Amino acid sequence: MNRLKDKIAIITGAASGQGAAEARRFVEEGAKVVVADLNEADGKALVEQLGGNAIFVAHDVSDEGSWQRVLENCLEVFGGIDILVNNAGVYRQKTLAETDRALMDLHYRVNVLGTFFGMKTVYRVMRDRGGGAIVNIASIAALRGAPGIFAYAGSKWMVRGMTKSAAHDLAGDKIRVNTVFPGLIDTPMLAENTREYLDTISQMVPAKRLGAPEEVAEAVVYLASDEARYVTGTELTVCGGMSA
Ligand SMILES: NC(=O)c1ccc[n+]([C@@H]2O[C@H](COP(=O)([O-])OP(=O)(O)OC[C@H]3O[C@@H](n4cnc5c(N)ncnc54)[C@H](O)[C@@H]3O)[C@@H](O)[C@H]2O)c1
Repeated sequence: MNRLKDKIAIITGAASGQGAAEARRFVEEGAKVVVADLNEADGKALVEQLGGNAIFVAHDVSDEGSWQRVLENCLEVFGGIDILVNNAGVYRQKTLAETDRALMDLHYRVNVLGTFFGMKTVYRVMRDRGGGAIVNIASIAALRGAPGIFAYAGSKWMVRGMTKSAAHDLAGDKIRVNTVFPGLIDTPMLAENTREYLDTISQMVPAKRLGAPEEVAEAVVYLASDEARYVTGTELTVCGGMSA
């Protein structure tokens, strides 16, 4: 249980769902974690469970100034930064016809700018420490088209493209940048769907079930760890075969 021993990580959107599962697994593997989220109540409750191995920082990923505060807190409390997981995201189900400028802006600010600001904020400190690992969370919606999630899918395709480009730009600084593509994962993000609908769509997954947040967390631990030291720019799907 030492795959991330002595590593220091910032995980965004870690108050809930996959981010919370990642924070738990990271601590189990020996990391110190900054739980960074808009959701203070759940973020603080999680940090209490994680003991002295995690701190909560209230954070809006779409605000560049907020990123500076998260980094400063991380450096002050833990003394460095080795891993960034850009996990925070928003998801609204709307077709192209239903999508307006405000919905495009929302997905752009959180999913795209949030990921960009994160990478831009931490890379210098990682470089000066001799390297690091960034894991960006996209979606299988960034692998092919899908109906009714126009703005979301567009934003996740940008996450995919930014990750590929950053893998080139940061390789010389020994910073690895990889993408995880979750499929249908049973988290609060899917809550706008009824259980009956989720049961129906899970039958369209080759594995015949939704994924658990812990199953995505395992992929993130791998990419963040030194086991993946020669892996950068890769695209790892965790989707029960949906992308196959
Ligand atoms: N659940 C799925 O089926 C699924 C599938 C593919 C990809 N994803 C992606 O996985 C990631 C995690 O989602 P989840 O399923 O755990 O959902 P979730 O709703 O449980 O968690 C998302 C978290 O992001 C936080 N967040 C939202 N906007 C933020 C902001 N501006 N600043 C900081 N934090 C913010 C929320 O407070 C929440 O804690 C997201 O990027 C999502 O797009 C989810």
